[in-house]
Amino acid sequence: MDLSSHQWNTDDADAASADFRRSEMNNLTKLFEIYGDGAVDQRGRYTAALDAFRALYGPGPVQIFRAPGRVNLIGEHTDYNHGYVMPAALDKDVLLLAHPRRDGEIHLANMEADFPSQAFRIEANIEPAPNGDWSNYARGAAQEAARTFAGLLHGFDGLVSSAPPLGVPRGAGVSSSSALTVVMAVALAHFAEWNPSPARMAQFCSDAEWYVGTRGGIMDQFIALLGQRDHALFLDCRPVDGDFRTETIPLPEEYRLLVVNSGVHHSNVRNEFNARVASCRAGVALLRREFPAITHLRDVESFGWTLLEPLLPEETTVATLRADGHDLGDLPNVAANTLLRVRACCRHVWSENRRVLAAVKAMRMGQIEQLGILLNEAHASARDNYRISVPELEILVEAASEIAGCVGARLTGAGWGGCIVALVHKDGVNEFQRRVPQIYREKSGRQAGVFLCQASPGAGMVGEFTV
Ligand code: GLA
Repeated sequence: MDLSSHQWNTDDADAASADFRRSEMNNLTKLFEIYGDGAVDQRGRYTAALDAFRALYGPGPVQIFRAPGRVNLIGEHTDYNHGYVMPAALDKDVLLLAHPRRDGEIHLANMEADFPSQAFRIEANIEPAPNGDWSNYARGAAQEAARTFAGLLHGFDGLVSSAPPLGVPRGAGVSSSSALTVVMAVALAHFAEWNPSPARMAQFCSDAEWYVGTRGGIMDQFIALLGQRDHALFLDCRPVDGDFRTETIPLPEEYRLLVVNSGVHHSNVRNEFNARVASCRAGVALLRREFPAITHLRDVESFGWTLLEPLLPEETTVATLRADGHDLGDLPNVAANTLLRVRACCRHVWSENRRVLAAVKAMRMGQIEQLGILLNEAHASARDNYRISVPELEILVEAASEIAGCVGARLTGAGWGGCIVALVHKDGVNEFQRRVPQIYREKSGRQAGVFLCQASPGAGMVGEFTV
């Protein structure tokens, strides 16, 4: 089912487009609710996907599901420490068109020829496709569903549409993979008539992503599910009785969130990421000698840093910790001799949690300059303490800070490439979009992609169509 080699039947395609056009008003209203002014641009994308679905799987009913990517305003590498984060959902998303099959198989095609079609059965141990294959996120969701959902799961024929610019940019640190996992989970749940709470669903999707070996937190899945138009989401990543505290925070009206993609993507991110998780876990293990009840770095937030710092070594290794009887749990690809910069990593997490709370306060009170200062400080800590920046991101942050109206800028997402996010007064947006890529090109020789974050609603079913 390779779309590139598919023999297009123009009658079929016309029929699908005709159906979409017939209910044009309804569809546009729905698209407007999701994408605001971007609705008109989405029409062609939806129509093309419906046409392709019919051409692949034949005529009949089809559901469209979507899940957005995200940008994190502040709160980096705090989620897996039970800390605080404040992301917003992008209006760039992953679409999944699907109709149920009679067997328990999932047949998945992709609008992009680079992503070959895949088929697998929903079961508790799904064989992974080769490392890096796009379908592994879908497989992870299906496997997790088979392991955790007691009811009957339906397979489906599916088609994914996620090509940028309307889809989520890939390898850019804006959670294209979580969006794919979430959209799969939403479709599986819909066909199984399973209605988990958002917290349960986010946890489910986070566990599903462990299939690909990253020990991330729950931020990306939460925002993909709970995003709201024109709002960021404050999320307290500490579960209380299986639930999480969330609050939607209106984005400042006069300001825009601009996302700049460095185009840099380091290949070793997974290992580096897991090494940071190990450093945090090492911090907890060592602090437990003084505070036996703690389980996560979040638990020491009320203590002063001067009290904590002497309890943490600058550096140690997994092997040293093991020899001292500390177990860091399951962490793929963290070798025993990996250097763990425990003190600096804990300093980042401890201080970042405070910055998120201060940022929420600043936003509530309309103190935008203060918010900007916090973003800049968060960047400095991510660079100097957590060491997740790269020269290209530094060029971008510096270029952003030169633009009139830019109150703050920082790397966003896991780090080691990807994007920066900048908070810019609306009058400075044009200059920002013109100048930042120019400076970046001059200093790095690379192209930067700039886009506005139009905070959008979280994942769900867009509607049911007949093709
Ligand atoms: C990745 C992970 C998230 C979070 C961020 C860093 O996006 O998936 O859970 O840890 O990195 O803040």
